Amino acid sequence: MRSRWWRSLALGLAAAAFFAGAVRAQGMPLGERIKLCGACHGDGGNSRMPNIPSLAGQPEFFLVNQLFLFREGVRKVEAMTPLVRDLKDPDLVALAKHFAALEAKPSEEPIEPALVKRGETLAGPMRCASCHLPELTGQQQMPRLAKQRVDYLIHSMKEFRDDTRSGADTLMSNVVSGVSDADLAALAHYAASR
Ligand code: HEC
Ligand code: HEC
Repeated sequence: MRSRWWRSLALGLAAAAFFAGAVRAQGMPLGERIKLCGACHGDGGNSRMPNIPSLAGQPEFFLVNQLFLFREGVRKVEAMTPLVRDLKDPDLVALAKHFAALEAKPSEEPIEPALVKRGETLAGPMRCASCHLPELTGQQQMPRLAKQRVDYLIHSMKEFRDDTRSGADTLMSNVVSGVSDADLAALAHYAASR
């Protein structure tokens, strides 16, 4: 079950977005929009909230792609939908450009050295680097994993494995198919530590 803590926050932000709708008709300034994103994804794009991904330093194309999937209702996330529903393509691109240019910083979650080591031995044969690049900084539609939140990495890999992420890319679902929770945790600690 997903935690409900963000639902009330989402509600407040949905109200803010609704109010902003009037402004948006004349074009909501990018800076205002970015402030809304920062409430969940962190000022500067580095999230301090459990299970909410950092956006800083993500490949621009990855961000545009995911924003597009949210807008079209292909990747369904309650918290995200109201924020992107009315955006035009140039808005998606401007948001992506903004977050791609920010510096990714590690979260304050504890990183377990033993899990990092175990994760490294798993990541080699599982070929994470072939798509996410050797430093796990991502490329094209493949996200940055380095310095991402540990809890979000675990959460998202479970969703790919258990087929609960709507609009998921099957390339990634195949990679984690049948992988144990313990191994996903090790991979997450390894990836976040890069
Ligand atoms: C109310 C909280 C909230 C707000 C505000 C919010 N997001 Fe999100 N966002 C989320 C959550 C939660 C997820 C992760 C969903 C999941 O579990 O798959 C997410 C995921 C994303 C992702 C996918 C990242 C990835 O690594 O998969 C992108 C891109 C994104 N948000 C961009 C934005 C932008 C741009 C804004 C501002 C227009 C914004 N978000 C505002 C909650 C929020
Ligand atoms: C064949 C290419 C490929 C390989 C190999 C691969 N990935 Fe991915 N990965 C992807 C793609 C593509 C996405 C974007 C998925 C989407 O858009 O639904 C992704 C997304 C992810 C995400 C979601 C992050 C986010 O911000 O939403 C995580 C976590 C992840 N991969 C971890 C890994 C790990 C760990 C490995 C190695 C065990 C790995 N991947 C190997 C292609 C790959």
